Amino acid sequence: MRALRNLLLGMAAVGPMLGSALAAGGAPTPPTQQWSFERIFGTYDLAAAQRGFQVYSEVCAACHSLTFVHYRQLSGIGLTPEQIKAVAAAVTVPQGLDDQGAPKEGPGTPANKFKAPFPNETAARAGNNGAYPPDLSLMVNARVGGPDYIYGLMTGYGTPPATMVMQDGMNYNKYFTGHQIAMPQPLQDAQVTYADGTTASVEQMARDVTTFLAWAANPELVERKQMGVRVILFLLLMTGLTYAVKRKVWSDVH
Ligand code: HEC
Repeated sequence: MRALRNLLLGMAAVGPMLGSALAAGGAPTPPTQQWSFERIFGTYDLAAAQRGFQVYSEVCAACHSLTFVHYRQLSGIGLTPEQIKAVAAAVTVPQGLDDQGAPKEGPGTPANKFKAPFPNETAARAGNNGAYPPDLSLMVNARVGGPDYIYGLMTGYGTPPATMVMQDGMNYNKYFTGHQIAMPQPLQDAQVTYADGTTASVEQMARDVTTFLAWAANPELVERKQMGVRVILFLLLMTGLTYAVKRKVWSDVH
């Protein structure tokens, strides 16, 4: 009885502390955005995904890998085979051994995975003040809020409230848990020059890179939705057919 009472008292004391700890570390939910790919029959906005690929390549790829994506998959956002070859050939990848048995390097091919900026996690941390820039291949699926969160994170930088003590090398971000993130604000207005003439505002680049990362995490999304529609149509047809057969078979029985 006494043990139970102590336990209850203990829980009552810890409860509010836990609550306030969570509140201190928590972050507001990023506002909901409209994404073309989130609607029932939605598809990826390919122009946005291509611009997002440019943002990833010119900005994010300096720190973040995209390990689970192969260059050949870029056909999924509408790149032609020639464009994909050129993108892959721009990086150098290990290519077995030369005649002397020394490791050899050469231009990448569409069959290669996206090249990571750092050879391993230790090197990545060393290049980022001790923080690890996570792989972005599945990031849109890995965070609560998905694309809204990535967009929020990209646009959520600002000056910290006067009461907040910032740790060394950290940056204030409204939507990051704890509000202190090791990643410096990656996007500034006009950071990239879009080939299609779109104005590269922070919001535009955030939207585009999020679309690209959503595609990277779910490249088969559109096929999945189309398959769903076909399955429903097939089931409807089968229901009609089976009903017709049932009526035919039982038509003599009154
Ligand atoms: C200068 C290096 C650098 C660049 C450039 C950079 N990042 Fe980061 N990023 C980091 C680091 C370091 C972290 C880890 C932050 C932490 O844990 O405090 C991070 C974390 C993240 C996270 C995870 C946040 C979370 O919830 O854990 C996302 C998403 C992200 N970056 C997206 C991007 C995108 C998109 C771009 C390009 C527009 C980009 N980053 C450019 C260094 C970078």
